[in-house]
Amino acid sequence: MSKIRTLTGITTTGTPHLGNYVGAIRPAIDASQVDDSQSFYFLADYHALIKCWDPKRVHESSREVAAAWLALGLDTDQATFYRQSDIPEIPELCWILTCMTAKGLMNRAHAYKGAVQENDETNTNDPDKGITMGLFSYPILMTADILMFNANKVPVGKDQVQHLEMARDIASRFNHHYGDLFTLPEAVVEKKRAVLRGLDGRKMSKSYNNTIPLFVSDKKLRKLIMKIKTNSLEPGEPKDPDNCTLFEIWSAFATDDEISAKHRQYEEGAGWGQIKQELFEHLNDHLIAPRSRYEELLKDPAFIEQELRKGADKARKEAAIRLTKVRHAIGLRPLG
Ligand code: TRP
Repeated sequence: MSKIRTLTGITTTGTPHLGNYVGAIRPAIDASQVDDSQSFYFLADYHALIKCWDPKRVHESSREVAAAWLALGLDTDQATFYRQSDIPEIPELCWILTCMTAKGLMNRAHAYKGAVQENDETNTNDPDKGITMGLFSYPILMTADILMFNANKVPVGKDQVQHLEMARDIASRFNHHYGDLFTLPEAVVEKKRAVLRGLDGRKMSKSYNNTIPLFVSDKKLRKLIMKIKTNSLEPGEPKDPDNCTLFEIWSAFATDDEISAKHRQYEEGAGWGQIKQELFEHLNDHLIAPRSRYEELLKDPAFIEQELRKGADKARKEAAIRLTKVRHAIGLRPLG
């Protein structure tokens, strides 16, 4: 039986936050430790260019994201850990797939539609204002990331599920036309709490500026948790844990027993101050060890680079073989 292959990428525009960890990094690291699995994890730095034109930010973020995965315990001998831009086969495959993708499919992509809608609402007379071809067609690049390694399972946040459907669509169309070369991938969305909310109660996301970075000092972590928006119920008044950002974050870092105990505490009317303090202590306990490892790694970028090169070597060997087959199938073959 062939091994189940898990693949996921993190766009290198920001500093890793709790939402990234819970939604992507943690399930990915867990999956990499399962015997019968193979994992491909990468820094999606070509994807970064879609929305970030600040070279310093892209560069720093690559270092921070890589350091975070290593600090959180990714074993780079077990998993293939690489940087997307080290694999030139990916953009090549992307072009080939672009020529197999209906434009209408891309018109339906949430990211693009959202940007058009925003333009409509701000009454610009150009619906495509500020929209690059990168933003428009990035689901195809994501498809190339996935199909390049014939991944079966792709852990992503809920907001990316549509892209996985598109990847399946594009892969099916290619397979139908040129022969079965690609595996149809499946999205894996962690059931428990795939999307964490941030400081203001909206989805935790860099674009909302409401994130709790994974590796800030304990002082800063406490300060951020104290800033999380709650309602104005007083201590002694029962509180509703469902729909509460603090409870949601707690649950993402707690056992079932700890979750039930917290539930009771809410019903019994614990005050927000106490709930926040306990969340801080609990999170801090979880993060102390990886935080110090992260800080060490940031001081040794040559080591991080070496780890990424090792991953790229492994990944490229396989990418080159698959791309040769693809080129052959589509008619880009030696002439004699
Ligand atoms: N677009 C994804 C995101 O914003 C990141 C990503 C790029 C990715 N390529 C991928 C995720 C391939 C899974 C598989 O979260």
